[in-house]
Amino acid sequence: MTFIRLISGCFLAVLLTACQTPVTGEAGAERDANLYDALGQRAGIEAIVEDLMYLIVDDTRIAFQFRGLDVNRFHSRLSDQICGLAGGPCRYTGRSMAESHQAMAITETQFNALVENLVLALERNGISTAAQNQLLAQLAPMHGDIVAP
Ligand code: HEM
Repeated sequence: MTFIRLISGCFLAVLLTACQTPVTGEAGAERDANLYDALGQRAGIEAIVEDLMYLIVDDTRIAFQFRGLDVNRFHSRLSDQICGLAGGPCRYTGRSMAESHQAMAITETQFNALVENLVLALERNGISTAAQNQLLAQLAPMHGDIVAP
């Protein structure tokens, strides 16, 4: 599978818990404006998130978690979050990752499924392997707040 080659030696689940870059806060991981450009700026990020949402709906491992979702709000908040993390001119104003996910009892498998879909969405949008890895590294510190203990 193509996503495995992205993570240069780190298996996906390991990447998300162990191969982390230093962070300065939940939405304040070290920023790199080049990543914002590499993701295609705001329009590119919105397209990636849209593709991710289609993939989620088709993925029986996690689709049930998104039933009844406010699609527009999720799209705009996740786009804001990725845009901000990537060094773009956006500010995430949604709830904390702990608050927004704690009632869902999200498993490790579900978390990895979502990341797998994100990688597929990034691939479909022609995002370079280096940029994919940078984004995954920004998201990795959120793992502990999203997966149920
Ligand atoms: C790196 C992984 C993840 C990131 C970056 C992420 C990010 C977000 C963001 C930004 C929101 C919006 C919060 C708000 O509206 O205030 C959200 C909501 C949500 N997330 Fe995640 N999420 C991740 C993993 C997951 C996983 C693994 C699942 C389930 C399998 C999930 C299910 C949901 C659902 C259902 C909502 C909507 C909650 C609501 O509106 O009440 N997320 N997520």
